[in-house]
Amino acid sequence: MFPHRHLLGIEQLSQTDIITILDLAEKYADLNRQQHKHLDVLSGLTQINMFFENSTRTQASFEIAGKRLGADVMNMAMQASSIKKGETLIDTALTLNAMHPDLLVVRHPHSGAVQLLSEKVNCAVLNAGDGRHEHPTQALLDALTIRRSKGRLHRLTIAICGDIAHSRVARSNMFLLGKMENRVRLVGPKTLMPSGVDKLGVEVTDDMAAGLEGADVVMMLRLQKERMDGGFIPSEREYYHRWGLDEAKLSNARPDAIVMHPGPMNRGVEIDGTLADDINRSVIQEQVEMGVAVRMAAMELLTQNLRRDTA
Ligand code: NCD
Repeated sequence: MFPHRHLLGIEQLSQTDIITILDLAEKYADLNRQQHKHLDVLSGLTQINMFFENSTRTQASFEIAGKRLGADVMNMAMQASSIKKGETLIDTALTLNAMHPDLLVVRHPHSGAVQLLSEKVNCAVLNAGDGRHEHPTQALLDALTIRRSKGRLHRLTIAICGDIAHSRVARSNMFLLGKMENRVRLVGPKTLMPSGVDKLGVEVTDDMAAGLEGADVVMMLRLQKERMDGGFIPSEREYYHRWGLDEAKLSNARPDAIVMHPGPMNRGVEIDGTLADDINRSVIQEQVEMGVAVRMAAMELLTQNLRRDTA
């Protein structure tokens, strides 16, 4: 049982909701490693992906997830859509709604836009990232990756490092990891910490060595230059020197610490390229793999609710 109509953020989910998604995703992770990966769970249903911001892995992952479960999947080319002619987000949503989709997957540069849209349509809406607000499926795929590597998802020390202020990935992860009772540390320059960070109930430091001390998981974030309108960092070279993850800084973490990054990566800015590729430390490829499984699980759970509504 999954008691939600939409997946808009981690903030609204309970511990049980999170575990329900991860347990089902675990089964899909197994399916995805088989040669034949097709099921009919979403057969007859229509999934529309609306990405108002650039995306490589999230969009591809939602598309593959829908297709593996048998949905009819359509990717709207938002760059070429009527939004460019001045149509509002809501008008576009209502137009699509009239075509009776069952699942709408939406990414938008404005925080709150996906929730607004979900109030206007009849189908299930999945937030694929709204501004700097939330990116729930990313936090869920990160959680599944951590649980598989560490064997648990509680009582871990997790350092989230870099551009926290502009990152919906950091926000969703903070909610999720907090709900699962982990110790979360935010590490990065003071200029890239969100306002009110002291009220978030997490540890905060601008010192990488101290922040990584004893960490089980080191989660790096991209510098979100498209969301910056001024000089938040002295220079990329200086940033890498102080906050970029390399072997030397990682040696402060536990010897078995895993390295994560949601992608896309700026090699040599927030992370050393060789370290990112080191399969003994980095789980970046597994994160991508788990992304498909988590999205399959989330879409299945939401459509079970739709079926109940119409039954
Ligand atoms: C993230 C996003 O879009 O928020 N990417 C992703 O979904 N894999 C992080 C980022 O863009 O840096």
